[in-house]
Amino acid sequence: MSDMGSSDTPSTDNTSAANTMWGGRFAAGPDAIMEAINASIGFDQRMARQDIEGSRAHAAMLAAVGIVKPSDAEVIREGLLTVLSEIEGGTFAFSAALEDIHMNVEARLKEVVGAPAGRLHTARSRNDQVATDFKLWVREQIDAAIGGIEALQRALLGQAEAGADWVMPGFTHLQTAQPVTWGHHMMAYVEMLGRDASRFRDARARMNESPLGAAALAGTSFPIDRDMTAQALGFDRPAANSLDAVSDRDFALEFLSAASICAMHLSRFAEELVIWSSAQFRFVVLSDRFSTGSSIMPQKKNPDAAELIRAKVGRIFGANVALMMVMKGLPLAYSKDVQEDKEQVFDAADNLMLALAAMEGMVRDMAANVPSLEAAAASGFSTATDLADWLVRTLDMPFRDAHHVTGSLVKLAEDKGCDLPDLSLADMQSVHGDITDAVFDVLGVHNSVASRTSYGGTSPVRVREQVARWRVRLG
Ligand code: ARG
Repeated sequence: MSDMGSSDTPSTDNTSAANTMWGGRFAAGPDAIMEAINASIGFDQRMARQDIEGSRAHAAMLAAVGIVKPSDAEVIREGLLTVLSEIEGGTFAFSAALEDIHMNVEARLKEVVGAPAGRLHTARSRNDQVATDFKLWVREQIDAAIGGIEALQRALLGQAEAGADWVMPGFTHLQTAQPVTWGHHMMAYVEMLGRDASRFRDARARMNESPLGAAALAGTSFPIDRDMTAQALGFDRPAANSLDAVSDRDFALEFLSAASICAMHLSRFAEELVIWSSAQFRFVVLSDRFSTGSSIMPQKKNPDAAELIRAKVGRIFGANVALMMVMKGLPLAYSKDVQEDKEQVFDAADNLMLALAAMEGMVRDMAANVPSLEAAAASGFSTATDLADWLVRTLDMPFRDAHHVTGSLVKLAEDKGCDLPDLSLADMQSVHGDITDAVFDVLGVHNSVASRTSYGGTSPVRVREQVARWRVRLG
């Protein structure tokens, strides 16, 4: 019985079982606390499939270039599939003593296939291995995020198409500004999400270089074929500098950054849904499927999903900041610090996917309250700009003068406790004698939105064009 561990913490008796991977150099195993801080198997087992995919590509390459016998490589590749099926079947016994997914898989491979397993780690290191696995994992998440974004965009397109001519108030400063169409508002989020998807695509294109074969940090003296493994793993090319390849986590930071911006967009929309579903607004009714009740107030229907989506950006951007701080100041090449990358990225990815899916469900199910949108659109002098524009167009007034005249008309309406369309022609002419009956045409909210046909404007015609454009784009 050894006494290498600290006496007041439970220590692992490892003298006889010094690590099988580097036991040659070590007389004793680690203290339990050392194992606790060092082991990543608790979380990096999520990369098991990528780890095995990378190892299978590596083994095939080792055989192709004559570093290991083809028969050994075949045994290794088959054995790795057995290990994968054990992991996926839930029968694999993960061991913290084996630190991480890489050593857990390799140790089990040895049990499954025996001696040939020892040849798998030729010409590679866990440093290039983990960078490869993690890149493969992040790349899949990027594809999933793009899928989730596009599904949400389709849900928004459905809303935009249904409500291309429904009018609602457009806000600036959350004060009624000008009437807009429901479709136009939905399409604003389609645009934001389109940029999110494009950011993920950019990140994917930039990250798609294979670290495998960079080995520990300096490359290897074995005649490996890095193009072959890069190609087998779907990378565009091998990373060109081994020091950079093993220590780079830009791809994770770019993922987190794109995820943060996307989550910020979701948060903005979620906030609108919270406001819109309130009794004070009544712009939308969220479905029961995406709402909760209150345990004390029977009348309550709460927009919890929207509130949680509104909050998710906190942890996602938090992950981005955390990893940035981990990477800051790290000298080349690999340092164990970077093991702190995974939990942040896993958590951010899980929560982004959840937020996208919940938002998609909410958007599909939500019902706009069209009469209430229209009533709100017409209130608050929302067509004052239309009135000013009419004065410019019809009476050839300079816009600044028209602004002033309209301001006086708004004041008059306010004094009378009515809205602009409720003023009589005589009221209008008391402010400016040249105003005619025709002015009333532009004061209606439907005419107002229909008139905004400039490219990118809110008119139903333009909205339908944008919906059609996006339908083609999304395929
Ligand atoms: N578990 C490690 C990580 O996630 C794998 C690489 C370990 N490399 C090393 N030289 N200790 O980063």
